[in-house]
Amino acid sequence: MKSRIVLVTGATSGIGRHTALDLARAGHRVFATGRRVDALESLRQQAEKEGLSIDTLALDVTKPSSIEQARVAIEQATNGYGVDAVINNAGYGLVGPVESIGDEALRAQYETNVFGLLGVTRAFLPAMRQRGSGRIVNVSSIGGRITFPMMGVYNSTKYAVESLSDALRVELRPFGVGVSLIEPGAIRTEFADVAMSTVAHDPSSPYAGATADADAMRKKFEATMVGPEYVTRAIRKAVESRRPRARYVTPRSAGVAIWLFKLLPTSWSDALLGQMSGLTRQKLVGDGSAKLSLAS
Ligand SMILES: NC(=O)c1ccc[n+]([C@@H]2O[C@H](COP(=O)([O-])OP(=O)(O)OC[C@H]3O[C@@H](n4cnc5c(N)ncnc54)[C@H](OP(=O)(O)O)[C@@H]3O)[C@@H](O)[C@H]2O)c1
Repeated sequence: MKSRIVLVTGATSGIGRHTALDLARAGHRVFATGRRVDALESLRQQAEKEGLSIDTLALDVTKPSSIEQARVAIEQATNGYGVDAVINNAGYGLVGPVESIGDEALRAQYETNVFGLLGVTRAFLPAMRQRGSGRIVNVSSIGGRITFPMMGVYNSTKYAVESLSDALRVELRPFGVGVSLIEPGAIRTEFADVAMSTVAHDPSSPYAGATADADAMRKKFEATMVGPEYVTRAIRKAVESRRPRARYVTPRSAGVAIWLFKLLPTSWSDALLGQMSGLTRQKLVGDGSAKLSLAS
């Protein structure tokens, strides 16, 4: 199998870190990137302990100058070649009702998950297109196929990633560049910690009844988690296959959930998701007994 030069964004933890190691173990040359330089160094050392070599580079996907610096550094390190594959993995989750998420947090979420992904893609794509071969692998989510309440903003970024990837796949096919989406379910990484740190526990919020349930929701989410190796396997297939698939859903239970939600009438799935997230009238507004007792 031909060894490829691969760029991985968000390689300081979770899926990105495991992907960098998995691809290096498979014999590919990996440029692992991220913001936390100490975490990149620990990744490099772990690879070295295994007799592997991983190149690390600081890259904040929200900063055009950082993307350009990484592109130039990789071009120099590869004698002007660039990369064969880009794994757009950097991203995080934002939890809260759509109404309450502040403007700044909303924009920051899109800067990383959507504009960052697009910025990295556009920087590395021209060389692949001109060579007539390459791969763009975009890490989306089951939340790019099903919208979960209290995760609507995060999910909307993944829907954007799905749509952009669908367009890119057809646009780039004539140039020999493949585009794949990876759609993970619940994966054991730092994702849940980062997402939960964004929950605003405001007792005066009209949604307080639902945000109070956030920890219970997290436990349910954690009970279904699998290890990042499920995702890295899918990413490796997208990089190595002669004919990469448009979508890799993993684990299998995520595929079943997507299929079920497609079958259910919207009124049923709405009721199910509302119950699961504590978004019931009784929980948020009360059953009216307080008003009744005042009136009587
Ligand atoms: N875990 C899940 O259940 C799950 C499910 C579906 C989809 N996903 C998706 O999988 C991807 C990876 O997440 P994960 O689960 O591995 O979570 P994670 O362990 O929190 O890793 C997220 C990575 O993204 C990086 N990142 C965040 N902002 C960045 C920025 N501005 N520039 C560069 N890197 C940035 C983080 O690195 P630094 O903070 O060091 O920069 C970190 O390496 C995300 O796109 C996520 O949406 C995860």
